[in-house]
Amino acid sequence: MPAIRTSGLTKQFKKRTAVDSLDLSIEQGELFALLGLNGAGKTTTIRMLCCVLPPTSGDATLLGNSIITQPTAVKQKINVSPQETAVAPNLSVQENLELIARIYGIDKSEARTKANETMRAFGLFDRSKDKAKILSGGMQRRLSIAMGLITEPEIIFLDEPTLGLDVVSRRELWKIMSGLKGKITMVLTTHYLEEAEALSDRIGIMHEGRLRALGTAEQLKQETGRTSFEDAFLALTEPEALL
Ligand SMILES: Nc1ncnc2c1ncn2[C@@H]1O[C@H](COP(=O)(O)OP(=O)(O)OP(=O)(O)O)[C@@H](O)[C@H]1O
Ligand SMILES: [Mg+2]
Repeated sequence: MPAIRTSGLTKQFKKRTAVDSLDLSIEQGELFALLGLNGAGKTTTIRMLCCVLPPTSGDATLLGNSIITQPTAVKQKINVSPQETAVAPNLSVQENLELIARIYGIDKSEARTKANETMRAFGLFDRSKDKAKILSGGMQRRLSIAMGLITEPEIIFLDEPTLGLDVVSRRELWKIMSGLKGKITMVLTTHYLEEAEALSDRIGIMHEGRLRALGTAEQLKQETGRTSFEDAFLALTEPEALL
């Protein structure tokens, strides 16, 4: 069973088709990068897969459960670090983490243990008592990702996780993500192409709501006859792409 399978997944906002008949299959344990220019439809796709935005048509199954008919089952298996960092501003770092753990049904003492572990892994331990709103933007981002992982989801969606992170934090997050490869399914969006190339098993490139290319970074370079992944990406996102 694939981790994610979409069939004809479509989202229409009035006249604009943000996601257009997406057919995609992502394997369990895969780190899948969903790339595309601004407005390509990445976040809209993720929001539908997380059951926060109903599709206009089509469906998707996550570990066999439909986002339309079984959203409760889907939500138990997934978590998300959204593009617009979502932390409760008036709760402390520790409280934010414990809250999410508790929402997912983890008991109080385990939630505390997990929050401690997670704060250490994300370099937030010495800020544990600080309210989220006084953290720097990058630290809030790290907290948001930590909140995505603390529940040990089977599938995690990371929408531009490294945006605004300093070089050290970015590399640390890469290490965490690499360490999770094969264990959980990760769907990553990023505008840092070298990040997608370095980390992902496969890459899907969306363009104007459609999936325009799919494969490993190496395959996409070969298909386009380009030596750098950035050149391959540019070729695949031209208005009249070669493929
Ligand atoms: N709630 C909404 N109402 C109307 N249009 C929307 C809404 N959300 C997204 N869109 C439109 O859908 C299209 C896809 O947006 P989306 O946020 O999915 O792009 P994206 O690939 O995540 O881009 P970015 O790289 O800038 O984050 C855009 O044209 C956007 O304006
Ligand atoms: Mg987006």
